[in-house]
Amino acid sequence: MLYRAPRGTSDILPQEQAYWRYIEQKVAEIAELYGYERIDAPAFEDTKLFARSVGEDTDIVKKEMYTFEDRGGSLLTLRPEGTAPVCRAYLEHGMKNLPQPVKLYYIASIFRYERPQAGRYRQHYQFGYEAIGDDDPALDGEVIDMAWQFFLSVNLRSLSLQLNSIGCQKCRPNYVAALKGYYASHTQELCSDCKTRLKRNPLRLLDCKKPSCQMVADSAPRSIDFLCPECADHFSRLKRYLQLLDLPFVVNHHLVRGLGYYTRTVFEIQPEEGGAQSTLVGGGRYDDLIEELGGKPTPALGFAAGIERIILNLKKQKVAIPTLAKPRVFIAYLGDEAKEGAIKLASALRGAGIGVIEALGDKSLKAQLRQANNLDVRYAVIIGEQEIKAGTVILRDMTSAQQKSVPVSQLQGLLK
Ligand code: HAM
Repeated sequence: MLYRAPRGTSDILPQEQAYWRYIEQKVAEIAELYGYERIDAPAFEDTKLFARSVGEDTDIVKKEMYTFEDRGGSLLTLRPEGTAPVCRAYLEHGMKNLPQPVKLYYIASIFRYERPQAGRYRQHYQFGYEAIGDDDPALDGEVIDMAWQFFLSVNLRSLSLQLNSIGCQKCRPNYVAALKGYYASHTQELCSDCKTRLKRNPLRLLDCKKPSCQMVADSAPRSIDFLCPECADHFSRLKRYLQLLDLPFVVNHHLVRGLGYYTRTVFEIQPEEGGAQSTLVGGGRYDDLIEELGGKPTPALGFAAGIERIILNLKKQKVAIPTLAKPRVFIAYLGDEAKEGAIKLASALRGAGIGVIEALGDKSLKAQLRQANNLDVRYAVIIGEQEIKAGTVILRDMTSAQQKSVPVSQLQGLLK
């Protein structure tokens, strides 16, 4: 074999497509229920858009972006996430003039140069929902509810909903200072990555997966104890609304998220059994991002979910998925004249919305019916010289093997 799909990427083969269709349909249904409209942004953007929004000190920007210079000398990056492009589009198309919040959703390929393993790829697909232009915690409640309802609608169970608030520009510096102070006296116990994080991105110390670092994190200061009165009120109202909605959230003081734009609410949904690469949904508020990208201060929030990981869990939980429709009629023929009749008939049936597979070549009737059997069609329509003359066809029920002669004029009605 000369070529394989690049490491960390994969082909989505026909037998997998039912899962993808299933999820895409649910994504669109949920969007409609909550009033979100679809947006599709380009697969690549100006590199600075991601550096600025996701943050220079994050793993994504430092290590994982597919960045290239095009032939015109522009520095571009394949999107490593979907929120920044939506915010860029919000600004570029003057969406601040629309009724707020503007609610948008997307289904998009995402590119991250990560170490591939089960559930972690270099190209994966996300769907995401973003609500831009309102800071009411009721909107946070609605967005989290939407994520939860999505999983109910696809029949995934045993999930956990984790929530935290990481404050705003005003109160976060106090928290980060307290965190640095705490970790300064525990540097010996930290892994080498965390020692670097301590200097550049101390919040990320909390979600290091190494057991020794987790032990240190367990006694670290908690962000919710440092919230300013406005953030504290926002968080407590959000929790109240989530209770009203009967959403079974748990506050996780280690939840900080890996992207730099978050403010206040952050949340994730994971399978209860957990595991490092298992997070299905990540999201939260990013109240400063639109301003950071050159707009007026505009609060916003959203979430995104990894489609491959959802499919892994659908399979693990053996969730039954609707199969995709395929042609249920096969047309067999004997002789050249009958072949011409078969070509015309197939076209007429398709025109009437009936899926058809035509026999090809000069195979024997037996071979053609074997093919029909392998294709798992419900009916075979057989045409010979005699049928052409008589204006009839033979209609064969592939399950019972019973067949009868039918006038061509009645065939459509019968098949429908
Ligand atoms: P994220 O947590 O980086 O958030 O990604 C969202 C989801 O994408 C993850 O929870 C996971 O299911 C999936 N995912 C991430 N990386 C990979 C990978 N390498 N392979 C397979 N699946 C992966 C964001 O990207 C934010 N833009 C979410 C957001 C939207 N926040 C606010 N609005």
